[in-house]
Amino acid sequence: MQQVQIRPYAQALTPEDRAAIKAQRPRCIWLTGLSGAGKSTLANALEVQLNQQGLHTALLDGDNLRQGLCRGLGMDAEARKENIRRIAEVARLMVDAGLIVIVAAISPFRADREAARQLFAQGTFVEVYVSTPFDVCAQRDPKGLYREARAGRIKNFTGLDSPYEAPLAPDCAIDTSEVEMAQACARLSALLQI
Ligand code: ADX
Repeated sequence: MQQVQIRPYAQALTPEDRAAIKAQRPRCIWLTGLSGAGKSTLANALEVQLNQQGLHTALLDGDNLRQGLCRGLGMDAEARKENIRRIAEVARLMVDAGLIVIVAAISPFRADREAARQLFAQGTFVEVYVSTPFDVCAQRDPKGLYREARAGRIKNFTGLDSPYEAPLAPDCAIDTSEVEMAQACARLSALLQI
């Protein structure tokens, strides 16, 4: 690959300057969990709630980003690593712009989530494990993907022939088969007060 000489330009305005004119503390709330665990539903409910509180948010959803920013990436470990790298970099830019960013992506590998965390200042990356058990997700199967994967028509399916590495010390864990959506949102909102 061609070596490109690049020197970053020191910007006049800092993330703190941008945050200072917003009545909010910019953060990244990272939702990880199996397909069908309820990440997108929870992310959407949380974003609506924060919006109603007058907070400025953005929502980065794996399924949606794979239509654009992450189009063409597959589901093998290398492609997922690149997927998470891109999402994390965009989330970081948005946090630096002053937003509260909610990410919903399976992000199955600990190392990739840890690399994402490293992009953020201490205390501005909140890891939420949407811990809904595999059997519940497979039973819900909202997109029919578990059925397809079990029939061998989808390869590298998370929880079947591709691993999911659960967070060891998440900031919060929510099993959406046990906790009502409103209560789950309230827990996440409370985390943001800290
Ligand atoms: S991640 O693992 O790279 O973080 P991401 O969240 O972007 O995944 O995308 C996951 C979505 O892709 C799932 O919600 C599901 O709809 C779809 N999907 C397609 N193939 C697979 C697969 N092999 N494993 C998991 N999800 C898949």
